[in-house]
Amino acid sequence: EAKPLSPLKKVHQDACEFFHQVLLTSKAGERALNYAKERELSEDLLEHFQIGYAPNSDHLLLTFLRGKGYDDTVLAKSGLFSQNESGQLFDRFRDRLMFPLADEVGYIVGFSGRRISNNKELAKYLNSPETEIFNKSKVLFHLKEAKKAVRTEKHLVLYEGYMDVIAAYKAGIKTGIASMGTSLTDDQVYLLKRISRNIIINYDGDEPGQHAIERASHMFETIGGFQVGVVSLPEGLDPDEYVKKYGPERYQDEVKGAITPTDFFLKRLELKYNFSNDREKLAYLDEAIKLIAPLTNPVERDLYVTKLAKKVGVSEDSLKVSLLREGRRLRVAERRKKQYNFEPEEQSKTQ
Ligand code: CTP
Ligand code: MN
Ligand code: MN
Ligand code: MN
Ligand code: MN
Repeated sequence: EAKPLSPLKKVHQDACEFFHQVLLTSKAGERALNYAKERELSEDLLEHFQIGYAPNSDHLLLTFLRGKGYDDTVLAKSGLFSQNESGQLFDRFRDRLMFPLADEVGYIVGFSGRRISNNKELAKYLNSPETEIFNKSKVLFHLKEAKKAVRTEKHLVLYEGYMDVIAAYKAGIKTGIASMGTSLTDDQVYLLKRISRNIIINYDGDEPGQHAIERASHMFETIGGFQVGVVSLPEGLDPDEYVKKYGPERYQDEVKGAITPTDFFLKRLELKYNFSNDREKLAYLDEAIKLIAPLTNPVERDLYVTKLAKKVGVSEDSLKVSLLREGRRLRVAERRKKQYNFEPEEQSKTQ
């Protein structure tokens, strides 16, 4: 027998339905519906993602939910309202396109609202605050649906934003999820690990997005047990902009062309050096060897040795010697670290 929903969860399902109806059927929702159309959100997408609109009012949601019988103590804890000095509740989300954020089971636990006016003084996205049921660092947008779809697709695709997940969905990739910005958390990585070990990271093509790929790759690497692919989009585009500009087929090709994190790191590294200068070339090789040396798969190492040798015009043999040296240095460092961490006294005796 199913447990009845807690009032806090229930109020979120009701709020979602309210926002959704306001967007689709009310006069107040017309501007937002136009905005949605400009962003190429079809009715099907608005349905699938249960997108809504929070009207430009400080009390319409409040009145609606009170009318449904919720009492103010529940509403005050929901995160859907702010309170003025005299303790009066008022709608927190106003004049925003509303993206519901659901838990793994599919119950809505919070919202993110996108500004639709061009008033740049307002934050682009406004999120629910932390509540008893909402912890931003433990939620992944579209997780329940992606979990369902991953049974037939091979991997999950990780995005920065809601609009990226939606654009991917439109392009036929149903396993998109978003970390809601670039700050992926350990909790989210563990959550993903239970669902799929195959992850493709497709953050925005701009510098913050590319930098965040490095961080995310390291997290997957550190927690371990993942096969990670990286998609790096050109011209600083984010996936939503890419699909709009180049269409779904080309976007799918980009995802199919995902490269290994090491390949991605090497490409990033290349950008920093001028190869016509030997001093810079050597510095590049130094860093590249540091990237390759920790790889445990001999075939993968070989692959990069070949690539690197060709790229800088040195022999594979000399690269292999450098790799062996770096490997030895790493093992010694690793052993030292272990001794320090676990047996500091033992070590001082033997020295
Ligand atoms: N984000 C946020 N608060 C902000 C800006 C961003 O929470 N003020 C989160 C949102 O989850 C957003 C993601 O970070 O989707 C990525 O940010 P960004 O790339 O700036 O936004 P887009 O997703 O590209 O949004 P849009 O296309 O609507 O401009
Ligand atoms: Mn509907
Ligand atoms: Mn971004
Ligand atoms: Mn973006
Ligand atoms: Mn965008």
